[in-house]
Amino acid sequence: MPKPPKIILGVTGSIAAYKAVELLRLMQRKGWDVWVVMTECATQYVGPLTFRALSLHPVPTGFYASMDPEGYTHLGLTEQAAVMVVAPCSANTMARLAHGLAEDVLSAAALSMDGPLLIAPAMNVKMWMNPATQENAATLARRGATIVPPGCGALACGATGAGRLAKLVDIIAAVENILPAG
Ligand SMILES: Cc1cc2nc3c(=O)[nH]c(=O)nc-3n(C[C@H](O)[C@H](O)[C@H](O)COP(=O)(O)O)c2cc1C
Repeated sequence: MPKPPKIILGVTGSIAAYKAVELLRLMQRKGWDVWVVMTECATQYVGPLTFRALSLHPVPTGFYASMDPEGYTHLGLTEQAAVMVVAPCSANTMARLAHGLAEDVLSAAALSMDGPLLIAPAMNVKMWMNPATQENAATLARRGATIVPPGCGALACGATGAGRLAKLVDIIAAVENILPAG
């Protein structure tokens, strides 16, 4: 039996963070071994315990300055990871990733990831259309990241336009495209 691919699921402070729970389940249904890492802000939207219980793995969260030194887990986390998926990816985290910042465990994990990175942004339409965000997405794409663009429609903030987290099946399909066959 081949080992299931290790997938890192990064969850950030977007109102769409609750959808990451279902994304985790869909990934597990594919037979993937999913490890979750969260920003501090994401824990305001969904509790790490939910991901801990479902993934059966520890869930590192937050900023290094406030972490137990024993918890410096970003390097171990990404070791042998097949793909790192950041979904939903906030505008803030996308900026961190585009600029190579590593103050929190999620962005440090992304920086230490030598395999493929997949980013599914979710945000208000004005935030998504802002040239800063567009440039950050383009920078990451130029470096080889796969961007699964947000969908259009009614947004949680009341606006209408592009910004909804892509359909979960489309995120799964994008991961499958990246994973080596077999
Ligand atoms: C109710 C609420 C919903 C939010 N939803 C989003 C969102 O969908 N996308 C986004 O980029 N920012 C959103 N924000 C702002 C982020 O939470 C904020 O930029 C935060 O610093 C992101 O931190 P992180 O990238 O470290 O997770 C929201 C803020 C609030 C109060």
